[in-house]
Amino acid sequence: MDTIGVGLIGTGYMGKCHALAWTGVKAVFGDKPAVRRVALCEVEESLARRRADEFGFETSTSDWRSLVANPEVDVVSITTPNAWHAPMAVAALEAGKHVWCEKPMAPALADAERMAAAARVSGRVAILGYNYIQSPAIRYVAKLLERRAIGPVTHFRIEMDEDYMADAEAPFSWKSEKSAGYGALDDFAVHPTSLVSTLFGLPAEAFGEMRKPYPDRPDGASRRPVENFDVATVLLRMPNGASGAIQVSRCAWGRKGRLQLQIFGAKGAILFDQERFNEVSVYLAQGSAEDQGFRTVLMGPAHPPYERFIVAPGHQMGFNDLKIIEAHELLNRITGKPSLAIDFDTGLAIERVIHAAARSATDGRWVATA
Ligand SMILES: NC(=O)c1ccc[n+]([C@@H]2O[C@H](COP(=O)([O-])OP(=O)(O)OC[C@H]3O[C@@H](n4cnc5c(N)ncnc54)[C@H](O)[C@@H]3O)[C@@H](O)[C@H]2O)c1
Repeated sequence: MDTIGVGLIGTGYMGKCHALAWTGVKAVFGDKPAVRRVALCEVEESLARRRADEFGFETSTSDWRSLVANPEVDVVSITTPNAWHAPMAVAALEAGKHVWCEKPMAPALADAERMAAAARVSGRVAILGYNYIQSPAIRYVAKLLERRAIGPVTHFRIEMDEDYMADAEAPFSWKSEKSAGYGALDDFAVHPTSLVSTLFGLPAEAFGEMRKPYPDRPDGASRRPVENFDVATVLLRMPNGASGAIQVSRCAWGRKGRLQLQIFGAKGAILFDQERFNEVSVYLAQGSAEDQGFRTVLMGPAHPPYERFIVAPGHQMGFNDLKIIEAHELLNRITGKPSLAIDFDTGLAIERVIHAAARSATDGRWVATA
């Protein structure tokens, strides 16, 4: 396959990230296939046309079904609100397209199951936008764990905090609708769970708690009740006896993109924070006590695929680079090469953890994730 045709549905925050990824992937990684940006879809014709010009897509439409049916499109990027993921992904797979769908899979478990089944039947590649697993820092953490640098992992904590909804007067958006899911669980907790799944394997049981800091938000001239939960906590029991905790908030003033991972082992600890994107801290409980302390490793050309972006150490990578790596992993999978990506089957397992946590928050008991 020399060239692959891309269709993009949705051009908001994530849509632009996918567009940049499709634009950059060939230049960064240099291998085949080349990417042809064929078609772009938005809710409204003039917006679709404008975005197609900006993002370098050949054609535009306001009808996502026509994009999915376009014979020139081989792979569909879905970056629309959560409630659209299932109908769009299933239709794309049924039309024989590969799919790159943003997280979460779908607010309803039955829809996520439908998506995974459609992917299996189609034989096409379908992955989810779990970009944080692509970070050179996280890949380095995985390597440290593989070589048991901190001994067996006993417990871990992951916090994901942002403040984009911290203001009680922030306007109501689709993210506060029930149709978007449980709230912070679908919006954020799926990301920490993707890290758990990648670094440690899937948890066996979850215990959840969800809270709504503000009951309503401005919606035009009136106020509208908030329909889901902006703050959530999930405790995890791992099959091997280790334990974990995930805490997420969309209302954490001062936290802009904090995804902090702390891993504790029998012989040390590892720390990573998305706000310090290019750093991993390692504590090894060895040698003289007076010399012990966290050592910070700056990501650079020795931490793949950093070197693909820039040969110079100390020059730093950023969020959009993760999407370029993710696009490359998708292309690797499509062309039958080894690939690190969360497909719809693993994505479904992540959804089961989220639904177990939500069920637990209602029932007040531990809930099995399988
Ligand atoms: N991977 C990540 O780190 C990450 C970060 C943010 C958002 N997301 C996910 O990306 C998705 C989109 O979130 P966002 O923040 O970009 O939202 P957004 O509101 O900024 O953008 C959504 C876009 O989709 C368009 N759209 C809606 N319905 C459509 C339809 N039927 N046809 C065509 N276009 C349609 C909207 O007009 C809008 O431009 C969500 O599922 C979200 O969870 C992922």
